[in-house]
Amino acid sequence: MNWEENVKQKSLWNGEISNLEEKERIAKKLASKVKDGDVIGVGSGSTSFVATKEIAKKMKEENLHITAIPTSYEVKMLCENLGIPTTTLAVSKPDWAYDGADEVTSNNWLVKGRGGAMYKEKLNIASSEVTYILVDNSKMVEHICDKFPIPIETNPEAINLVRQELIKLGAQSVTLRLAKGKDGPVITESGNVILDAVFRNVDETYEDKLKQIVGVVETGLFIGYPVVIEK
Ligand code: A5P
Repeated sequence: MNWEENVKQKSLWNGEISNLEEKERIAKKLASKVKDGDVIGVGSGSTSFVATKEIAKKMKEENLHITAIPTSYEVKMLCENLGIPTTTLAVSKPDWAYDGADEVTSNNWLVKGRGGAMYKEKLNIASSEVTYILVDNSKMVEHICDKFPIPIETNPEAINLVRQELIKLGAQSVTLRLAKGKDGPVITESGNVILDAVFRNVDETYEDKLKQIVGVVETGLFIGYPVVIEK
């Protein structure tokens, strides 16, 4: 039996989606890769949102069966609305994954986590042979932090220790991310907070250096993962 009204139906994306036409074009390209039986890691953010809707359309038109591994409540609810079955990394390994990004450098280093989902996104990306990163040209940057800070998912009790260590590593600024629609900080889906840190000196050692700070759960810096950039 279905509920009379589905409260998630109208409200899943908050606000306008920027560069929508571009995102729809890339989504169609991605949907053409979907095969019957695939287990697919699904990233969060507006680009993944548009791509997921396109995949659901293809599933219906071609009677395909896929299973998604979502990276946030936002995407899990979207999959439920679209009739895409979901599973978890604890049960299945993705055949492949897709995701968006906030920044991409020429050597495919990424900054992710504007939407706060970088921890589960990194788990999916690290578990997949290949992840398609769907971006328009506005995401291409010369240096990490040209446009976005690096989000550092942090245990709430460790914020001052982590801030101190980030400054020692050369962070120009460190800001606790505050919620919109709730008072206080953003709480991630793993119950942590986010420190947004701006660096001007990121090299290939930084992902490891950040991760080694006690209290850091994960970061939105992705260096050397098996990604293919789809534009
Ligand atoms: C989610 O937390 C993020 O990592 C997104 O994947 C990233 O911010 C890209 O989002 P858009 O597709 O909305 O630009």
